Amino acid sequence: MGTQPSAPPVTDLDRSTGSRVDLHGVGRRYQVGGTEVVALREVELHVDGGEFVVILGPSGSGKTTLLNLIGALDSPTEGQISLSGTNISGATRSRRARIRRELTSFIFQSFNLFPALTALENVQFGADVAGRAGGRAHAADLLARVGLGDRLDHVPHQLSGGEQQRVAIARALATGNPIVLADEPTGELDFVTGVQILRLLQQQAEAGRTVLVVTHNREISRTADRVVELSSGRVVRDGPPPGGQAAVADLHW
Ligand SMILES: Nc1ncnc2c1ncn2[C@@H]1O[C@H](COP(=O)(O)OP(=O)(O)OP(=O)(O)O)[C@@H](O)[C@H]1O
Ligand SMILES: [Mg+2]
Repeated sequence: MGTQPSAPPVTDLDRSTGSRVDLHGVGRRYQVGGTEVVALREVELHVDGGEFVVILGPSGSGKTTLLNLIGALDSPTEGQISLSGTNISGATRSRRARIRRELTSFIFQSFNLFPALTALENVQFGADVAGRAGGRAHAADLLARVGLGDRLDHVPHQLSGGEQQRVAIARALATGNPIVLADEPTGELDFVTGVQILRLLQQQAEAGRTVLVVTHNREISRTADRVVELSSGRVVRDGPPPGGQAAVADLHW
């Protein structure tokens, strides 16, 4: 990447396992009225830095629930989760906030941009939160990489849905954090832009980060190193894409 962000802040978080993500016996149950909803059960997942993993499954299978747990936005009701060697399962709210600032970059299904900030300021905000001094040049470089080099000073309502999504992706990458989590990042994008974003996410993995991407799209899953398939809250398959890994350039959707 053109301009490199500064080194991560030094804190008491364990970083002994780099970008590694480990889940052991993870479950998430919700109480709704008198009924219990089991969104995830007995999830076993171990991902190493440098892996590009796609999480695939039908609507309601638990994909967002799983990503939110790994992103320290929510806590499991059973099992253990560790990020970079730090156990996050029983973390307090403030510790989870610190884990999100320092270890994870989250791209949400809805973009969550700040409406009063320009594209450039939204991306700089990502770097600021993570305590990186990447500055304006780094933010502008990331926006150029998502194809928005000529939209730096536009506020979100002056951008299309797909453009807003690309700003959100640049903002997440601006943190420079080691674990990149993306919930349907190409959902709003046309084919050419989608391919550009997938390639950018793949480059994050090539740089040693762990990248977990949620999608409904089987075609996208072909580009992954590994596909984790969920059904009714369980992992029903975990392995290389059936038929082997495809290059991003060979996709059709
Ligand atoms: N806060 C909640 N309270 C109760 N049930 C929930 C809650 N969040 C999710 N669920 C339930 O857990 C299950 C998994 O939801 P989740 O959002 O993880 O699915 P998903 O695979 O991301 O689906 P989609 O592809 O539609 O985004 C669903 O049955 C959902 O209704
Ligand atoms: Mg979802």
